[in-house]
Amino acid sequence: MERDFERILLHHDQIAARVRQMAAEIARIYGRDDPALTLVPVLSGSIIFLADLIRELPLKMKIALVQVSAYPGTSVAAREPQTLFELSGDVTGRHVLIVDDILDSGRTLRLVRQMVGQRQPASMRTAVLLRKPNKAPPDVRADFIGFDIEDLFVVGYGLDFDDHYRNYPHIGVLRRELLP
Ligand code: IMP
Ligand code: MG
Repeated sequence: MERDFERILLHHDQIAARVRQMAAEIARIYGRDDPALTLVPVLSGSIIFLADLIRELPLKMKIALVQVSAYPGTSVAAREPQTLFELSGDVTGRHVLIVDDILDSGRTLRLVRQMVGQRQPASMRTAVLLRKPNKAPPDVRADFIGFDIEDLFVVGYGLDFDDHYRNYPHIGVLRRELLP
């Protein structure tokens, strides 16, 4: 797997340090009393980020899963996202924090925000590990952002290409000849 990478953009140690800071930022917003908090991770890209983030969050929380697909198969160009699996838990009246790996065109988060918004949550915020520059429209801003990155196709730490490389501990760029 290692040899498929051209370069590492974010080393795991760097990611871990930032995730710890983000958890502190999030904990400050929601406080330490029972905030009726539900995290809504967007599958599958958010799984590693989610696992690390929630273990740094000293808050009582529920988790409701949603699965959305934006990059079918070996494509590296986003298309209109499709809901593959709707919310696994009730978020009505709860403080919802949507968690995703990356904010790119914003279409995925717009869809998930609509889905959650229809169920009348007490509040709704969004945390993303990565954000690509100048692509997301103003209506899909994230409240918590790990890193702003260049406009590159990246994989690892949950992000995939054709469902591979999610388990790569760093975030990196694949060798050009592997991409379409
Ligand atoms: P958006 O809908 O264009 O904002 O794209 C968001 C979704 O597309 C993310 O949740 C990712 O699953 C996927 N995605 C966007 N950029 C990348 C990338 O560089 N590598 C891998 N997946 C990506
Ligand atoms: Mg995703």
